[in-house]
Amino acid sequence: MKKLFFGILLMLGVSMMAFAKPNIVILATGGTIAGEAKSDLATTGYKAGSLGIEVLINAVPELKNIANISGEQVANIDSSNMTDQVWLTLANKVNSLLSSSNVDGIVITHGTDTMEETAYFLNLVVKSNKPVVLTGAMRPATAISADGPKNLYNAVSLAGDKNAKNKGVMVAINDKIYSAREVSKTHTLNVETFKAPNSGEIGYIVDGKVFFNSLSIKAHTKDSPFNVRGLKELPKVDIVYTYSNDGSKAAVEAFLNAGAKGLVVAGSGAGSIHENQKNYLIELLSQKKLVVAKSSRVGSGLVPLSEEEIQQGFISANNLNPQKARVLLMLALTKTSNPKEIQKYFNLY
Ligand code: SIN
Repeated sequence: MKKLFFGILLMLGVSMMAFAKPNIVILATGGTIAGEAKSDLATTGYKAGSLGIEVLINAVPELKNIANISGEQVANIDSSNMTDQVWLTLANKVNSLLSSSNVDGIVITHGTDTMEETAYFLNLVVKSNKPVVLTGAMRPATAISADGPKNLYNAVSLAGDKNAKNKGVMVAINDKIYSAREVSKTHTLNVETFKAPNSGEIGYIVDGKVFFNSLSIKAHTKDSPFNVRGLKELPKVDIVYTYSNDGSKAAVEAFLNAGAKGLVVAGSGAGSIHENQKNYLIELLSQKKLVVAKSSRVGSGLVPLSEEEIQQGFISANNLNPQKARVLLMLALTKTSNPKEIQKYFNLY
């Protein structure tokens, strides 16, 4: 009798564990998903980062059916105003939350403009294999057919999915799942704006069900050497753009004088730099004044280096776009300013 009683208790415990909802924390940072417009027809000219986290959660009562939700407001900004300070706060918060056995996954609501940069930054500094998912919206919360609520529901479904561990930081938007390293915003206004131009999405979400179809092979999170614990600021890295008749040293000089430790060049084609600007960069590299990574303004594809460029000290940003190359160069500079060592980071991450 006693045995039967304990057997039933055990079975009950196991089945309760199987049906236990995951504990998901939503960290809100602002963006259009929290945007408010004067009219429900307006999808431009609104104020991004206006509504608080509780409003976003209450707009999707179905969240309670799939997860135990708690929310925290980390910032409430238009993501075009994102700062290193918000990144450092966010990264430390994510790491501290995920170190608790009471947290199974994290969703971060974020503006779409710089979502790819924040996602890639976290992909390199989060020290956990639990899911971290960014989401946002292209239409403000007040718009007819606002896309935010469904994106939030999908992001929570993904963060609570048992197969979402070990995938690095992800972006869930418009029913698709992207790896943080590969995702990029490609359209100014359309809801179908996120793409992964070098590799495609890694999965999709249908009615809350998560399907993975591929993986990013680049190392991330626990397998990355970068750590932001105790960091008060990040090394300054800027981006210079190459274009026709770009003969001026002015931009590079100004960035250098403002304290840049590194530069990413958004080169033309496979990373070409106008010769006038390139000659100046070669001069600065020879004086070890700064570190220079060559990326491309094209939007996809690898940037190769000639033997001469390697000797000159240039680094290839691999196939990272300029804004992502900047993120990796900043973190690389927390470790070393040796171009050969930094090149290894660009090959791996
Ligand atoms: C922003 O990035 O904060 C504004 C644009 C958006 O979220 O779509």
